[in-house]
Amino acid sequence: MSRPPRRGINTGCLEGRRILVATGGGSISIYRVPDIIREMRREGGAKVKVAMGGKASQALISHEVFRWASGNDVITEVSGRLEHISDVEGSDALVLMPASFDTIGKCANGIADEVQPLMFSNAVGSGVPVLFVPAMHQGMFRSPALRRNTDILRSMGALFVEPVVEEGKAKLAGPAEVIDAVARALAGQRGGGRYLVVSGRGGEEVIDQ
Ligand SMILES: Cc1cc2nc3c(=O)[nH]c(=O)nc-3n(C[C@H](O)[C@H](O)[C@H](O)COP(=O)(O)O)c2cc1C
Repeated sequence: MSRPPRRGINTGCLEGRRILVATGGGSISIYRVPDIIREMRREGGAKVKVAMGGKASQALISHEVFRWASGNDVITEVSGRLEHISDVEGSDALVLMPASFDTIGKCANGIADEVQPLMFSNAVGSGVPVLFVPAMHQGMFRSPALRRNTDILRSMGALFVEPVVEEGKAKLAGPAEVIDAVARALAGQRGGGRYLVVSGRGGEEVIDQ
């Protein structure tokens, strides 16, 4: 029996959009990312490509899971094909998920020795919208270094999808929140002036100009 079409608040909001998801190896919350990608496609209608960050990421989860979730071959290294240039510039948005404390710090400070910060470095200079989806323990999330680094990234135009803070952790946002944030970021681009900041820290600003 065929599955009935899904109808939700985010249905079709990413139709035809090309989303590049770069994963990091630093957070066990990576186990939730395939589900979010699947929903980006099924619910949002997006075309999704995944770039996996190094051996640590691939030790936690197989690229085959991401191939299934995205319906696309997975980038597992940066090669002579210059994936950090071609795949970033061929995308409508770059989503760093999960974004660790470490990755956020690297991106804010111009370090590009891993797939996530490398892709970020080109996206932010090429005008491709970037969203960070952080996950870490609450103490790390409250650290002054994280606040300083997220402030720097916001000043570069990056967006943050707010984590769910519970049980002493800042947990990865869910599929609906991620899809909504990406759609709003892209709608802001189309609309010429409307801009949403979804903060990586508790309940911050929404700017609607
Ligand atoms: C089991 C385990 C879980 C971890 N979870 C997180 C996490 O959720 N968030 C985070 O920022 N760092 C976490 N860390 C620390 C990161 O793994 C470490 O900072 C790593 O260098 C980040 O790599 P990445 O930036 O490529 O993701 C964890 C470490 C271990 C051993």
